[in-house]
Formats: sequence, structure tokens, C-alpha cells
Amino acid sequence: MVKNDSGWWDGFFPTFRPVFVLISTQATNAQARYVINKLGLAPGKSFLDCPCGIGRIALPLARKGIKVTGVDITQSYLDEFTAKARRYKLPVQAVRCDMRRITFAGQFDGAGNLWTSFGYFAKESDNLLVLKKIFRALKPGGKFMLHVINRDWIMANYEATGGYEIPAPGGKGLIKIQEKRRFDYRRSINYATWHFLQDGVEKVFEMNLRMYSFHELAGMLEAAGFIDIEGYGSTRDEPISRDKMMMFIIGTKPPRR
Ligand SMILES: C[S@@+](CC[C@H](N)C(=O)[O-])C[C@H]1O[C@@H](n2cnc3c(N)ncnc32)[C@H](O)[C@@H]1O
Repeated sequence: MVKNDSGWWDGFFPTFRPVFVLISTQATNAQARYVINKLGLAPGKSFLDCPCGIGRIALPLARKGIKVTGVDITQSYLDEFTAKARRYKLPVQAVRCDMRRITFAGQFDGAGNLWTSFGYFAKESDNLLVLKKIFRALKPGGKFMLHVINRDWIMANYEATGGYEIPAPGGKGLIKIQEKRRFDYRRSINYATWHFLQDGVEKVFEMNLRMYSFHELAGMLEAAGFIDIEGYGSTRDEPISRDKMMMFIIGTKPPRR
């Protein structure tokens, strides 16, 4: 990893870890089933989860006999992912790498970039590079799912501030989280300042996210080489609209002729 791979995500994600509690087990299981169905995965097939975080989706897939490789930049997340995999005797691969720098070629039946892990880079060419690298990692005929927040929903529901409380790890009280947001319409980037307050100690981080509508992402997937682009607004195959917070976009690497 080279030095300029560092960015806002370095300090943010280790502190963000307790926020995973906001996704219910039911929602995670539904997403894992959706990944399996939409990408045509089955026991023995291979899947690249980039980035994989703590293995929220990678672990349920591994439990189904899918050969999972998880890539992430946050070492504490990879440690948690591999510890859980060991506990359940699941043979997973974990790779610490910036998602722009992966070097896999033609080796996965499916791949995912899930739960808004896209749009992290200030240079738009870097965001496209992630798609190109994932495209390269797939076998011909392999499928990719991008699961990301929907800019059209953001625009319909934008609030300049947000706040909530979540349980602190180990049942030690609560963490108060406050977000202050500013939307740059010229660049379609949400600049958010996150305040994490626990036991009187405040940690403050920036999170800058490029927001996309479906048509833009479909164009980017095509620019990366994907064909047969499909998009859904839920794991029930509902259409994408401004009422759907999340999008599930699927593309296929052209099969070998
Ligand atoms: C919102 S989490 C989603 C994790 C996982 N996909 C899931 O569905 O639970 C975003 C993940 O991106 C990882 N990440 C952030 N910047 C990254 C980068 N430059 N390269 C690789 N991973 C990165 C974080 O460590 C974090 O695990």
C-alpha cells in the first residue's frame, strides 16, 4: 500500500464500528440471500467482497459454502472478520488493500461492493477505477452487485443535521452520534462531519461521499466494461425511485466468445 492511499476513512471506520448495529440481522440475511440469488452463486463458487468490512455479508455467504475473499483497508475489521470465520471454521481469505489497488484477474464468479462502500474518492477517476478493478477480478460471465445509497432519495429527504444514540460496545452505556452535512451540488458530494460522543470524550471525523443516481452508476458500470445492467430499489426487486433509499445495481462481465 502506498502512502497516498490514506484518506478520511482511516480514522473514521474504526470509530464507526458500533454503527453496524443499526442494520438488523434480518436485513443482513435478506441482503446475503439477494446477493446469492442475483449473482447466481452456489456452493463452490467464488465471491469477492470489496470492501468486506467485518464480514457482514461475506460470513453468511461462506456459511453457504461459497469461497469468499474479503478485501478491506481497516485492519480491525479484517481481524474481526477472520476471527469469526475461524470460530465457525469457515475457510475465508482476507486481504488488506485499498479497493483501488486490488490486483485479482479473472478469478471470481461474483463480486460485491455493498452498503455504500462506493464514492469515497475525491477524484472521480478513482471511483471508476474501483469498478474497473472489480471487473478485472471477475471471470468472464461473472456478475457484480453495487449496493449504494440513492442520490435521488437523498435529495428528496435531505437534512443538514442528524443525530441518534447507539449502544456502546460491551454494553457500556451509549454513544451519541451527531452528523452535520453540507451538500455540494456542483460535484454531488455530501460533506459530513460526524461527532461521536462517549463518556464525555468527543471524536470528530469528516466523511465525504460522492452521491450517484442510478443512470450515472449504470453509465460507470458500462464504462468499466459491464453489460446487462439491472437496478432494483429493494431486495424484493422493487424499482428504483426517489422513495427508495438504497439501490442494488447488477452488471455482468461479458462471457468469453
Ligand atoms: C459502510 S462499510 C461497508 C462494509 C461491508 N461492505 C458491509 O456491507 O458491511 C465500508 C467499508 O469500506 C472500507 N473502506 C473504506 N475505505 C476503503 C478503501 N480505500 N479501500 C478499501 N476499503 C475501504 C471500510 O473499512 C469499511 O469496512
